[in-house]
Amino acid sequence: MALTISEKSRLMPASAIRKLVPYSDAAAAAGVKVYRLNSGAPDIKSPDCAMNAVKEKSQSLHHLSYTNSAGLMELREGLVEKYYKKIGIDIEVSELIVEVAGSEAFANAMQIVADPGEEIIVVEPYYTNYQTFTYLYGINLVAVKSDIHDGFRIPDISEFEKVLTDKTKAVLISNPCNPPGKLFTKEEMLAIGEFCKKNNLFLISDEVYREFCYTDEPHFSAMNIPGCEQNVILVDSVSKRYNLCGSRIGCIISHNKEVMAAAMKFAQSRLCPPVFGQYAAIGALDTPDSYFEEVKAEYIRRRDCCVEMLNAIPGVYAPVPYGAFYTVAELPVEDAEDFAQWMLTDFRFNGETTMITPARSFYKTEGIGKNHVRIAYVLEVPELKKALTVLAEGLKMYKETHQ
Ligand SMILES: Cc1ncc(COP(=O)(O)O)c(C=O)c1O
Repeated sequence: MALTISEKSRLMPASAIRKLVPYSDAAAAAGVKVYRLNSGAPDIKSPDCAMNAVKEKSQSLHHLSYTNSAGLMELREGLVEKYYKKIGIDIEVSELIVEVAGSEAFANAMQIVADPGEEIIVVEPYYTNYQTFTYLYGINLVAVKSDIHDGFRIPDISEFEKVLTDKTKAVLISNPCNPPGKLFTKEEMLAIGEFCKKNNLFLISDEVYREFCYTDEPHFSAMNIPGCEQNVILVDSVSKRYNLCGSRIGCIISHNKEVMAAAMKFAQSRLCPPVFGQYAAIGALDTPDSYFEEVKAEYIRRRDCCVEMLNAIPGVYAPVPYGAFYTVAELPVEDAEDFAQWMLTDFRFNGETTMITPARSFYKTEGIGKNHVRIAYVLEVPELKKALTVLAEGLKMYKETHQ
């Protein structure tokens, strides 16, 4: 028998967000300045208290051992008391397990609720890694559409009902949503909770962007849907909240004991979350409110600049996002992936280019999103302006040379 890798790994889709990295690396190695608007890795400083906690531990620790699989007790208690209580989410320490960031939390939540061949409903466009993990686990992701020309309005419950089958196990939402930047109102959350209760479905609520809401309405967590306690599984992360993406710390939370017992078995199978990441997260719990206020004000400036500049480019349409730090834009090209790659391989404007993410893989429905891109406004305004000017020039030249 020949030496072969598995079918599963051969067919596994590459990350749409990172797929173009070899081209951007090649451009950068050739001396081109690449503005990276492709990934949700912000340039904002992590809080000093988080970084200082890591520095102190690196001086005093003499042995890097495993921690409890559920995470250090100091972190679990700190999250419950100093963070969740403050934002109105009332949980016991036993209802939280520290995970290897939000990625492990939602991946495990999917495996906990569904077996191969079963279905999870999601609103599209969705975070593309949801698709990656359901692919790995043989779970079918079933999409309910939201439309760019309708400002990505959250679909009515009747749309969820239409795709319900006897294989449906859960609804998965991200609130605020990556990539369209939509927020679920309290009424929408209550309606989805009701739908899940009525049909005995789990509600996996990915709230990693909770701190990034740009309306006057407070964020409404799925944990606060009355009567839905046994259905809700919360996915959370310190990555975005404290600009600690590299710490790889997040958590899974549920009042459902069976869910938490299963989550613990998954946690034990990977032994423990990263130790220094946990110390960074413990330190981050002392982050002052002013940090979040400044970060939020900064994102609103970036969003406004981004949406205004995008919509000023002929043929481009980008609705205003109200949360997270992404926007989906429709471009006047046939194939946004070809355009995004061409920007990195062929196009230079004064020695610079811009990297964006083709958004097709954020959609399940065939034929949608081929001319959409996701833009992460993760650069400060002066850099963002340059990046979008380069993008506009690129679009102009691409249209001249390709259509
Ligand atoms: C909606 C959403 N959920 C979860 C994650 C996972 O992030 P992390 O694993 O860094 O917590 C991301 C990352 O971009 C995301 O956009």
